[in-house]
Amino acid sequence: MADGKVYRASTFAPVNIAVIKYWGKRDTKLNLPTNSSLSVTLSQDDLRTHTTASCSTSFTSDTLTLNGQPQDISTPRTQACLRELRQLRKHLESKDTSLPQLASLSLKIVSENNFPTAAGLASSAAGFAALVRSIANLYALPASPTELSRIARQGSGSACRSLFGGYVGWNHGSAADGSDSVAYEVAPAEHWPEMRAVILVASAEKKDVSSTAGMQATVGTSALFKARAETIVPQRMKEMEDAIRGKDFEKFASLTTRDSNSFHATCLDTDPPIFYMNDTSRAAVRVCQAINETAGRTVCAYTFDAGPNAVVYYLAADEAVVAGTFRGILGEKTGWEGSRGEKVEKAGQVPENI
Ligand code: ADP
Ligand code: DP6
Ligand code: CO
Repeated sequence: MADGKVYRASTFAPVNIAVIKYWGKRDTKLNLPTNSSLSVTLSQDDLRTHTTASCSTSFTSDTLTLNGQPQDISTPRTQACLRELRQLRKHLESKDTSLPQLASLSLKIVSENNFPTAAGLASSAAGFAALVRSIANLYALPASPTELSRIARQGSGSACRSLFGGYVGWNHGSAADGSDSVAYEVAPAEHWPEMRAVILVASAEKKDVSSTAGMQATVGTSALFKARAETIVPQRMKEMEDAIRGKDFEKFASLTTRDSNSFHATCLDTDPPIFYMNDTSRAAVRVCQAINETAGRTVCAYTFDAGPNAVVYYLAADEAVVAGTFRGILGEKTGWEGSRGEKVEKAGQVPENI
């Protein structure tokens, strides 16, 4: 096959924001987590990656471009994803010899994030989910979201959860080869369609400590980490699944904020300490508390990933008070912006189908 023909496929993948956080690996090579985690996948109309994968005899090496910048594709984790996908395609080609031999061709991957990269808004999650699915589409793989989540996990742990919409768990698993460390649907988006989120960008800068480096340092030095992984998170996973199934927002909110705080406490307990939240982040915490106190009930829940940016979950009926309050604050230019520097009310209606 030396015809120069270009085969191409594209996909969108939304970010997911964990409400029970993944932080810590038990196997760095396979990206296997110490604890299970649970997240909400945002709508792909909001924060998302768009990736196009193509292959052709006219390409001479594998390449990856992110927002116009060439990226290093030789990293072991990206290579693991490519190797697994090529293997599955090779298997198809060996069963049906009439198929074009795409697995042996160089890949050109072009990706675009419509939100800040490496700033604690889950770019690695949307990024690797889109990378894996675009190549799976290109190769016409009959792979389920579960199988793709197993592959995407090797690119970035949180990416496995972006292969599903709605409320998504990631089982830590126990198999040494990671075969059972995959994402699963807790509930589809339609189960609780009133859920909303606003994303507040305190800083769009690349973080100082990547998630990968940060969690390794925590595993190596934090005394709090052990209790979190062994006791706190397993209990919260059960409670969170119940809260979601029962559409109990108060319970969902309490678990979400407490787990965010617990994760950032283990970061502070790391030696040397890691500070992902900043003064602007802490101000968002206080605004959430004030909104809840004024309402006399739990109206909103904040969570912070490995970065200073806040995600605030609330229900549609409380749109005016939550989005309205934060929109007002944004107008005052206190250091917050919408996720794409614009209208906060559009930033993060969740969840919808992907
Ligand atoms: P974040 O909090 O944004 O997930 P991480 O430190 O976990 O930050 O990961 C950021 C890294 O993820 C980037 O430096 C890049 O290597 C990778 N990444 C982000 N977006 C993409 C993408 N669209 N395609 C491939 N890799 C991506
Ligand atoms: C705080 O999935 O980005 O967002 O597996 O090393 O790529 P790697 O880490 P990553 O870590 C995400 C950490 C988190 C919590 C979460 O998403 O569960
Ligand atoms: Co990440």
